[in-house]
Amino acid sequence: MQNQNQLWNKHHSEGNVRKYSLESTEFVKTVLNVVDRNSKILELGCGAGNDSFAFAKAGHNVTATDFSDVAIQQNSEIYKDTKNLFFEVLDLSSDFDLPDNSFDVVYARLSLHYFIDSVTRNIFDEIHRVLKPNGKVCFMCKSVDDSIYGVGDEIEKDMFDRDGHVRHFFSEVYVEDLLKDKFKIETMKSDTDLLYNRESSFIQVIAESIK
Ligand SMILES: C[S@@+](CC[C@H](N)C(=O)[O-])C[C@H]1O[C@@H](n2cnc3c(N)ncnc32)[C@H](O)[C@@H]1O
Repeated sequence: MQNQNQLWNKHHSEGNVRKYSLESTEFVKTVLNVVDRNSKILELGCGAGNDSFAFAKAGHNVTATDFSDVAIQQNSEIYKDTKNLFFEVLDLSSDFDLPDNSFDVVYARLSLHYFIDSVTRNIFDEIHRVLKPNGKVCFMCKSVDDSIYGVGDEIEKDMFDRDGHVRHFFSEVYVEDLLKDKFKIETMKSDTDLLYNRESSFIQVIAESIK
């Protein structure tokens, strides 16, 4: 399998994420409607930082993370004057170097669908650990209805390597199983829209941590 960190650093160096991330997304607008004022928000896989900037502009205190040091460096420079927005390198495939019960919201748009099942389950354990009681996880992942589902070499159930780019496609049944006992699902929506200029199918979830 191709080294995913190198692959994403290359995408970020070439501006392949930022060119589709010039504005805040529909998902961040939805989430902004359901979070309390002055929340402490952690973004995972922030890419160009546009959604984190939207949270910061709305007055929240935001830690925006990505495993690409290229993306984090670019964002730190671009958003250096935004006082309540902090960028940090964080690799989702390892435990998070963050304290327990420290965030009101964990937000992840199109960044949790790159991992085998055991790593995905650890990510949700870590999200649960860093969320305060009744904190919210808000995430969006490619779904099994996506047109590129099944294209490439199968790595695991619902996970494929397509020309070096790996994706784990989520189903609603899989989400329910991932979240059971730790989170209460508030909303779960399967939909199709233009993402990165390509018609894509995805699942969008907002859930509350149970502690
Ligand atoms: C499709 S982009 C989404 C970026 C942004 N959240 C958005 O919605 O536009 C996926 C992001 O996940 C990051 N990513 C991929 N694997 C990761 C990992 N293991 N740990 C942290 N971030 C990762 C990539 O660097 C990239 O910025």
